[in-house]
Amino acid sequence: MCGIVGYIGSNDTKEILLKGLEKLEYRGYDSAGIAVKNDDGVSVFKEKGRIADLRSVVDFSVNANIGIGHTRWATHGAPSHVNAHPHQSTTSRFTLVHNGVIENYAQLKREHLADVELVSETDTEIIVQLIEKFVKEGLETEAAFAKALTELKGSYAIALLDNQNEDTIFVAKNKSPLLVGLGEDFNVVASDAMAMLQVTDEYVELMDKEMVIVTKESTTIKTLAGETVARDSYKAEIDASDIEKGTYPHYMLKEIDEQPAVMRKIVQAYQNEEGELSIAKDTLDAVNASDRIYIIACGTSYHAGLVGKEYLEKTAKIPTEVHVASEFVYNTPLLSEKPLFIFISQSGETADSRAVLVHVKELGHPALTLTNVAGSTLSREANHTLLLHAGPEIAVASTKAYTAQIAVLAILAEAAGKAKGFEMKFDLIQEMGIVANAIQTLTDDKEAFEQIARDFLSTTPNAFFIGRSMDYHVVQEAALKLKEISYIQAEGFAGGELKHGTIALIEDGTPVVALATQENVNLSIRGNVKEVAARGASTCTISMKGLEEEGDSYVIPHVHELLAPLVSVVPTQLIAYYAALHRDCDVDKPRNLAKSVTVE
Ligand code: F6R
Repeated sequence: MCGIVGYIGSNDTKEILLKGLEKLEYRGYDSAGIAVKNDDGVSVFKEKGRIADLRSVVDFSVNANIGIGHTRWATHGAPSHVNAHPHQSTTSRFTLVHNGVIENYAQLKREHLADVELVSETDTEIIVQLIEKFVKEGLETEAAFAKALTELKGSYAIALLDNQNEDTIFVAKNKSPLLVGLGEDFNVVASDAMAMLQVTDEYVELMDKEMVIVTKESTTIKTLAGETVARDSYKAEIDASDIEKGTYPHYMLKEIDEQPAVMRKIVQAYQNEEGELSIAKDTLDAVNASDRIYIIACGTSYHAGLVGKEYLEKTAKIPTEVHVASEFVYNTPLLSEKPLFIFISQSGETADSRAVLVHVKELGHPALTLTNVAGSTLSREANHTLLLHAGPEIAVASTKAYTAQIAVLAILAEAAGKAKGFEMKFDLIQEMGIVANAIQTLTDDKEAFEQIARDFLSTTPNAFFIGRSMDYHVVQEAALKLKEISYIQAEGFAGGELKHGTIALIEDGTPVVALATQENVNLSIRGNVKEVAARGASTCTISMKGLEEEGDSYVIPHVHELLAPLVSVVPTQLIAYYAALHRDCDVDKPRNLAKSVTVE
């Protein structure tokens, strides 16, 4: 949420910053800005809207060898030119970009800046004004920066320029992601390595409450108390082509299409030398030592957790609860004696989930993170990590990460069950191969889903998804996908639950999409479809081969029932994609959203 970049070196600073921001746009896109500095001082360009809008206001004739940039997802203050970053201190000596939330900004304003007139409504402006105040009181910039940081409560990733310092970017981080990138004769700063892959793949991780003095030649990490910290760099293993759209019109479509390959890659990644699926022993021991698993996640990852619960209970026989992270931390349920917490997070940076992780660590309980991003905060701070191997997911609406999360949970549950000596009812490697082929069949048949979207969803204000058992979990994800990218009011319900109230909403032509992939509830879900059809609903049933009935709108290939969510979700992803497209929505960057939600 919000992305920041910085560059110091002799190449085209503005272009590097703008290209970096384009790569970070998934983190927020309601306004953007850059500040570049040369001998004439600092020039700030900012604009409401996308990076493309920012480009149109940048004066490309200004040369500079140092600069910072920001793409915003508004928290304090509406998206506007004045609230866009960078923000400057009253004298314009200091210029700053910030990702995060300063919780005590009102108190800081009252206590330190009562006589300062603020220009914006942001919490960020407080930081830059505080630094100026401390400098006016006699501190050097670095000391003033450190002092201001010690006053802040909340989360921040910050990059600061000082008009009177030719060659330094002052950087700091607490709870918001930030990396320093290293190059020959230049250095960079970025919220995510993807932003600066254009110039370097060598990065240094920063820990909370650290600051960095970045010059062209050096990067010096310090604690807020001023002690220097030594840390090795690492190579970001991201293939630059993975983050390009290629010939696809949208990242979302590309990522939906990548799912068969992701399924195969996951199986490969978790196979040992004997060709069996395996999980690191310490992780497995932690799973099997627990008397209850608590899955913590948000949004789509939470929906993957609902499916994971089925695997952990059915295959590994460990009681499992799934919780929405933002609720858990403030309303913690009674915990078992030996709980294990599993955090599911594509980005590994979600603040709501991290707040639970911090709480859980305070209680002394073990934690395992399933994430797509090695080295992410949730991965670093948990005791164990399982990687999703899905490759970068850029579209704001998550697709391949959802199926990857379910696949890894299936592997984890199988490994835990086997380690306990339970007999497996099916060969997971073989079944995952069947799943990958089935997804491929669906992604090769896009016209069918485009037609369903056209027939059922092109003008409707609302839609319902119904399913039972495993399908109930999937329809919740299907509804989220449709609403977030097409803005159609959509809900996913347990088929049997409609008659307890929601059926009152069914009118002539209301679209109801039903999933029917589970044999033991096939007759019941069919009954539910008939109930809504009798009340005028326009129904679309997506069934699985072997369970199909005449009149079904689409029949997906047969896969093992437990793995059906990996396949049945794909038509719903494609239907959501085409519904959004037909309604002229911005598929990859839906309104009000951002990927990687780093504020609570
Ligand atoms: C929806 C979506 C979100 C995320 C949620 C958690 O398409 O992507 O609901 O699933 O914000 O994000 P992560 O998985 O990064 O913790």
